Amino acid sequence: MAETILVDKNLSDEKIYESILPQIDSLLNAGEPLISNLSNVTAALKEAFEKISWVGFYFLKEEKLFLGSFQGKVACTVINVGNGVCGTAALTEETIIVEDVDKFPGHIACDSGSKSEIVVPLIVNGKVIGVLDLDSYSYSAFNNTDKKYLEMLCFILSNKLKLEKTIQLLI
Ligand code: SME
Repeated sequence: MAETILVDKNLSDEKIYESILPQIDSLLNAGEPLISNLSNVTAALKEAFEKISWVGFYFLKEEKLFLGSFQGKVACTVINVGNGVCGTAALTEETIIVEDVDKFPGHIACDSGSKSEIVVPLIVNGKVIGVLDLDSYSYSAFNNTDKKYLEMLCFILSNKLKLEKTIQLLI
C-alpha cells in the first residue's frame, strides 16, 4: 500500500497539525524498525509545512547528541549536551523556540540559510533521550502552536514506538 499524507497547505498551522498528527500516528508501526518510523515522521513534517527547511532527530548517548533520521541538507553529526539549541534543550529538558538564530548564544549553524528554529526534547520516563529539531529559512517561523503539537507528537512517538527500549538499537 502506498503511504501518503494529505495536507491542505491553505489551512492555518494549527489546522495542519490537527490534520497530520492522526495521519502520522497511523503511519507508525511499532513492529517495524524505529529508523523506518522516524524517517517517515520527518518526511511527513517536511511535506506538511513549507516553512521547514530542515527537520530531524538527534539521539543522546554519553552526553552527546548524535544525528538520526532527518530531511534536509547535510547536518552536524555530533552535538555536545549544553551546546547549541539542541544541546541546550537536551540539558534543560524544555522546548526552545528561537526566533532569530543569530541572537541565540552558541547557536550551531549547520546551514547558514537557517534563520529560526524550534527544538523539542524527547522525554521518556522523565529522562531526555534525544531531541526533535526543526529549522526555517524565515525568521520567527515557530511559535507556541508548533510547541504544543510537536510536544504532542514526541509524546506519541515515545509511547507508541516504546522509545525507551528501541532507541538503544539505533545508537
Ligand atoms: N542549529 C542546531 C544544530 C543542528 S542543525 O540546525 C540541524 C543547534 O544550534 O543546536
